[in-house]
Amino acid sequence: MRFEGKTVIVTGASAGMGYRIALDFANEGATVIAVARRKERLEELAKEAENLTGKILPYAGDVTTKEMAEGMIDYAVEQGGKLDILVNNAGIMDEFKPLTEMTDELWDKVMSVNLDGPVKAMRKALEVMLEQETGGNIVNIASIGGICGARAGAAYTASKHAMVGISKNTAFMYANNGIRCNVICPGGIETEIMSTQSDLSQFGLGRAMAGLDTSIPAGKTEDISSIVLLIASDEGKFINGSTIVVDGGVSCN
Ligand SMILES: NC(=O)c1ccc[n+]([C@@H]2O[C@H](COP(=O)([O-])OP(=O)(O)OC[C@H]3O[C@@H](n4cnc5c(N)ncnc54)[C@H](OP(=O)(O)O)[C@@H]3O)[C@@H](O)[C@H]2O)c1
Repeated sequence: MRFEGKTVIVTGASAGMGYRIALDFANEGATVIAVARRKERLEELAKEAENLTGKILPYAGDVTTKEMAEGMIDYAVEQGGKLDILVNNAGIMDEFKPLTEMTDELWDKVMSVNLDGPVKAMRKALEVMLEQETGGNIVNIASIGGICGARAGAAYTASKHAMVGISKNTAFMYANNGIRCNVICPGGIETEIMSTQSDLSQFGLGRAMAGLDTSIPAGKTEDISSIVLLIASDEGKFINGSTIVVDGGVSCN
């Protein structure tokens, strides 16, 4: 029971990796604030966790707003008395659009979910974590698109590279304050994310798939969740500022 008495926020908890991460924390005793826009999905998740040692509390809304990013942290402190772990997982793709096909709207949308929302949440979380004796832990979910330029469109790639940078900077700045910050870069994982993409750039997709070893199977949500929990636990206490690639070897070629 690694997370008994811990308060955890997981964004993007209504589907995919976030759903699994929230359940796994609750299974190990945590009080989990589950954040996403689809309230009914969060309620299903909370129900699924009813027999677990910890609990899941839905907090529905759009993580791109300051009100929501700060509100979820206030709510976590209200419910658990402190905030131990923030998992910035909510994210969207960019239809593999290269810059020549990018619109202002798509750029802003991707940046606001994948970068601005997490940064707003981190700023508020750090305020809380710096004040509490127990420090805190931030785990950001980027992508292999955050370590290379080849596997997504321009906005997604830029947003995930920025998440890698901001995670390292945060880890270094607060390393003496009992606060850790790490970033995970998953490869392809079986979730809903591709089904949210309706207007794919054929050029961008073709370039992103070039040279990709498609014989390596996609991962499962638990392959990412287990690493999030490891990093956030005491077993991971010396992991700080790390970029952890979890992709079955896809990015080695
Ligand atoms: N799946 C992959 O192959 C893969 C690979 C590398 C990295 N990743 C990254 O992993 C993370 C999770 O992806 P996933 O594959 O699990 O995606 P997913 O199945 O599409 O789930 C995305 C989650 O983000 C939430 N979300 C999206 N926009 C939001 C907003 N504005 N406000 C609040 N919540 C929002 C969605 O909930 P609502 O729609 O209910 O708001 C949903 O819970 C993302 O950051 C993604 O970039 C995924």
